[in-house]
Amino acid sequence: MLKTENCGELRVSDVGRTVRIAGWLQRRRDHGGLIFMDLRDRSGLVQVTADPSLAEAFSVAEKARHEYVLQVIGRVRLRPEGSANPNLASGEVEVLAETINILNTAKPTPLPIDDDGYKTDEMTRLRYRYLDLRRARLQRNLILRHKAILFMREYLDRQGFIEVETPMLIKSTPEGARDYVVPCRVQPGKFYAMPQSPQQLKQLLMVAGYEKYFQIARCMRDEDLRGDRQPEFTQLDLEMSFVERDDVLAVVEGLITELIPAVVPHKRIISPFPRMSYGEAMARFGNDKPDLRFGMEIIDLGPAVRNSEFRMFSETLQAGGVVRCIVAPGCASYSRKDIDVITDLVKGAGAKGLGTLAWTSDGIKGTVAKSVKPDEAAEIARITGAREGDLVCIVADKEPAVCKGLGALRLEFRDRLKLADPNMMAFGWIVDFPMFEWDEDENRWSFVHHPFTSPKPEHMDILESDPAAVLSDAYDLVCNGYELASGSIRIHRRELQARIFRCLGYNDEEIRRRFGHMLDAFEYGAPPHGGMAPGIDRLVMLMADEPNIREVIAFPKTASGSDLMFDAPSELEPKHLRELHIKLTD
Ligand code: AMO
Repeated sequence: MLKTENCGELRVSDVGRTVRIAGWLQRRRDHGGLIFMDLRDRSGLVQVTADPSLAEAFSVAEKARHEYVLQVIGRVRLRPEGSANPNLASGEVEVLAETINILNTAKPTPLPIDDDGYKTDEMTRLRYRYLDLRRARLQRNLILRHKAILFMREYLDRQGFIEVETPMLIKSTPEGARDYVVPCRVQPGKFYAMPQSPQQLKQLLMVAGYEKYFQIARCMRDEDLRGDRQPEFTQLDLEMSFVERDDVLAVVEGLITELIPAVVPHKRIISPFPRMSYGEAMARFGNDKPDLRFGMEIIDLGPAVRNSEFRMFSETLQAGGVVRCIVAPGCASYSRKDIDVITDLVKGAGAKGLGTLAWTSDGIKGTVAKSVKPDEAAEIARITGAREGDLVCIVADKEPAVCKGLGALRLEFRDRLKLADPNMMAFGWIVDFPMFEWDEDENRWSFVHHPFTSPKPEHMDILESDPAAVLSDAYDLVCNGYELASGSIRIHRRELQARIFRCLGYNDEEIRRRFGHMLDAFEYGAPPHGGMAPGIDRLVMLMADEPNIREVIAFPKTASGSDLMFDAPSELEPKHLRELHIKLTD
């Protein structure tokens, strides 16, 4: 080895030893007589001192520049009295260089390596990702990711799961996004689809008798990107046979409950994880992935304003809508401008508007204060617990719009009022999702989770007659406002699976062509089974306190799906296109 020790691991106990270290020159200070250099490897930094009395090493140190790759042979010694660096793990010692070898030189870097923040613009960071990845923050994130995945593997192995790899070139599997497709050179005009998840394959492994499967699975989805989405991402994909919902939840809850204290001990979790239905989550938090770190729950004002003369309330209720609110403590003093901002937010989320009542020392103010009678206001105060200083934010509209509007506002107040403890990871289970949702564009019912999800047994009779009312045996794990995992108990009988495909508007020919392999498999003794898939990138993002999943992925893509380092996607050579039997139209 060109090195015998790690830079960041040298300690007082090493004083007197001659060591050989190697790494990158992070900082260099020429103090006239002495040259101090911070040498960095993956373990961290150590100070190397070049003294003119050791002339050969000193002359190399004079030439060395930022990010040069150096090998240093020297003796570890205590730093002189008063010059220890308490911010550095190796800060009590330094290496007095006897020999310095330049293993490679480096041009000035386009981004600072010693900056732990993200001041450099992201395009530059992604273009020079190999330099960005040198920085301590990203190294910490990737090491944390490695530890989390290692823990998952060991935990699931202990629980009797086995890891099975599944192919990347398959046939379209519906998860709600578009497929990435790969042309097949030897079969002109035919394409593989990259897996959006190994969903069908893991179910087929259950049919094959593997009982407990997992995989650190790469998934590809061509969908609109945002901070918690990448076109390629990683799931901890798992599936179990002979289980009911709670068996699957117990495995995942057990894993997370052990994982968090083991890998990020400063994070707090609530145990056991609270559990609520989709309907309850929407009514209480206006969101099916609620941030459970704080309260500010949505309150129904229906009973208080049922007989109101204020038309915004009465007409909404008569039309079958709802009147609900949240209470923002200490926000009664909000200016007109603040109110405009939060009103726009509520409208942007799809609700008609926002009415406010502010409990001030001068009485009740706010945009609807004049329309609300004193006894109604008193009743609202009683129901909501509003006190002087509080701002009651009211939305009257159809129920979904009210949920969305107040759900978005609740998150806005979370950020404005700093209501969420950043060291808390508030996991929770959302269960009993609707089975179908109406797809306006396609003008047909679509699936909410995926089409292999089982409806609740008590809803089998209304699949065709009342699709909107059908609940499925699907569940999500949420954390701090993110959906971290989804899963379900699956259909394992051919007849029911074919019936669901028909409910989704597929004709028999399509069912045969797209899903024939699943239906066939279900005819050969498919066991009852279910599973789930936590998104590893999102989980690690929250563990690492990062604002977006790109910070925990070694080589992520931009929002428009580009890899700036590779300059991908890129054109193909005409010869290559011909080989693939592809003709471009423009
Ligand atoms: P689902 O599509 O809900 O379920 O995905 C499961 C989890 O994967 C993560 N995830 C993503 N992470 C980053 N970028 C993306 N584009 C992205 N899309 C999803 C999320 C999500 O909760 N086969 C089913 C699982 C099952 O039923 O077992 C599935 O893939 O954390």
